[in-house]
Amino acid sequence: MPKYVVATVDEIPPGHRKVVEIARRSIGVFNVKGSFYAIRNKCPHAGGPMCEGVTSGLVRSDQPGVYDYVMRGEIIRCPWHGWEFEIATGQSWFDPAKTKVRAYPTSVEPGEILAKNPELQAAGYQPGPYAGETYEVEVDRDYVIINL
Ligand code: FES
Repeated sequence: MPKYVVATVDEIPPGHRKVVEIARRSIGVFNVKGSFYAIRNKCPHAGGPMCEGVTSGLVRSDQPGVYDYVMRGEIIRCPWHGWEFEIATGQSWFDPAKTKVRAYPTSVEPGEILAKNPELQAAGYQPGPYAGETYEVEVDRDYVIINL
């Protein structure tokens, strides 16, 4: 499963998002209360740019006149016609069995681990004895990864 580094952790603070293009797909990467999630930026209704909509929550009620506002900041609302989806899963709550958007697994990895390229090492590659001239590159941050 190819993985793509899409941002540093501090580039997407809680409550914010970043829309990226990966493998000819537009994908929204969200920080919801410190956890990162990625969903396709294409609404299943009519293809709207869903990840550009407002985030909100859901209203829940057990009886008339009594309600709770739940999942605050965990719902994305498509800017074209208002269909809503859970950011963490891509699941809709109005038609959960049939309507959802594609969600992609994400992870956060430290730069020093990414720089060592553990996938190559796991595949059996070893660094050779010769190396070209190199320059200092910053790798001391944590990075948000999408796995497609
Ligand atoms: S295109 Fe998203 S709600 Fe219609």
